[in-house]
Parts: sequence; C-alpha cells; structure tokens
Amino acid sequence: MKTYYGLIGAGGYGREVMPLANSGLRGEILSGNAELFFVVEDVDDLMPVNGFSVISLKNFLNLPNPKRFNIAIGNSKARQRIAKICIDAGSVPFSINAKNVVTMDAIQMGHGSILSPFVTITSNVHIGVFFHANIYSYVAHDCIIGDYVTFAPSVKCNGNVVIEDHVYIGTGAAIRQGKHGEPLTIGCEAVIGMGAVVTKNVPPGITVVGNPARPLIK
Ligand SMILES: CC(C)(COP(=O)(O)OP(=O)(O)OC[C@H]1O[C@@H](n2cnc3c(N)ncnc32)[C@H](O)[C@@H]1OP(=O)(O)O)[C@@H](O)C(=O)NCCC(=O)NCCS
Repeated sequence: MKTYYGLIGAGGYGREVMPLANSGLRGEILSGNAELFFVVEDVDDLMPVNGFSVISLKNFLNLPNPKRFNIAIGNSKARQRIAKICIDAGSVPFSINAKNVVTMDAIQMGHGSILSPFVTITSNVHIGVFFHANIYSYVAHDCIIGDYVTFAPSVKCNGNVVIEDHVYIGTGAAIRQGKHGEPLTIGCEAVIGMGAVVTKNVPPGITVVGNPARPLIK
C-alpha cells in the first residue's frame, strides 16, 4: 500500500528540508510505496517546486490513508495549529533527519522533528514534539527541550539547559551551560536574538539580544 508523505511549507526552509525528506524516503519512493509532496495552506494546487508536486492541505488530507506529514514552517504557533489539523484528520507525523546528524546516548525525541545537516544531539537529552534544529546546531548533555522549539542555524545549546515550549533561538546564539540540579532555563515563548550570548535564565515571553543577552527594549 502506498503512503502519501506531505511536507507542509514550500518557503525557503521547506525547500531546504525537502531534499532531506526525499533522501530519507528514497527507497520507498523508488519502489512505488511512497509519494512525497509539498503541501501548502489556503491555495489551490500550484506548479511544482524544485521538481516536487505542490498540493493544498485540503487535497492532501483528502488523500487515502496512510498519510504522514511534517511541517517546515519556522513559526511555532503555526506548526502547532497545522499539526492539530493533520493529526485530527488521521495523518501521522514523521521525522526528518539529515544523513550526517549525530545523536548519542539516551535521547528521547518527540514526533515531527527536523534535524538539518551537521546537527549534533549529545547524551541524555529530552526533546518534545516538532523540534527544528537548523544546520550546525547542537544540543549538549542533560538538556530538556519542550514542544515546538525552533533553533536557527548554529545554535549552541550547552549542557544542563531547560528550554520551554515555543522558544525561538536565532542564528549563532550561544546558551551558557547550567548546573546539575540548577539548569539555565529559557522560559516559554521567549525569543533569543541572533548572536546572543545567554548567560542566565530568560523569563517567559521576552526577547533578549546581545552579549551578555539583555531584554530588547524598543
Ligand atoms: C531579535 C529579533 C527577533 C528582533 O526582531 P525585531 O523585534 O523585529 O527587532 P528590530 O529588527 O525592530 O530591531 C530592534 C532593535 O534591536 C536591534 N537588534 C535586532 N536584532 C538584534 C540582535 N540579534 N542583536 C543585537 N541587536 C539586535 C536592532 O538593530 C534594533 O536596534 P535600534 O532600535 O537601535 O535600531 C531579530 O532581530 C532576530 O535576531 N531574529 C533572529 C533571526 C535569525 O536568526 N533568523 C534565522 C533564519 S533561518
């Protein structure tokens, strides 16, 4: 039986993730057991993008089961909303890992993650659902990462750090290590600007920038 795979999002990030999904599914696609599409919301089916068919979310969800999906959209609230639509409609998340991702021991990873090339997750790490780790990011030992967390490229998340749900971490940010039993914590929905050096806890919902990272005041 053929499985239909939808990668939701055909923007810049989606076009970076599609080759990873395609490579992971190559065997199934070549044997005719899988078909892979870009899926977009709120528009009718479009012209192919980079050689892949583009279908609307509605048409994807109307395909016969089994259907699997992942969401290559940086906005974590959009990811959560679309994931619910897809799961409620009977589609099942699949994870996408670049071939050179390094994962070490005792990692628990929720469904729907996207790990881009050169990502490393070391040991004793717990990560929630629909995590994005863009190119060259790492997560070190004893970190706990919530749901719908987004790492832009080259995020350096050192050991004993807690990152709560919906946190966004910009390109090249570095997070200081916490201590065993006293982790450095980044609160729910906080935003860490590109290049920030985070040296202490970040309260929920605020944006920090700079070295050392301080709240962004506009
Ligand atoms: C921190 C961030 C979220 C703020 O975005 P924003 O709210 O739209 O802020 P603005 O662009 O209006 O900038 C507000 C001020 O903060 C400064 N600023 C913005 N981002 C900064 C950063 N990362 N570090 C230091 N200063 C920063 C701006 O220069 C501006 O300063 P000014 O008021 O003196 O002119 C954003 O700049 C950022 O870093 N996003 C991450 C980008 C990224 O990594 N993308 C990856 C794509 S894969």
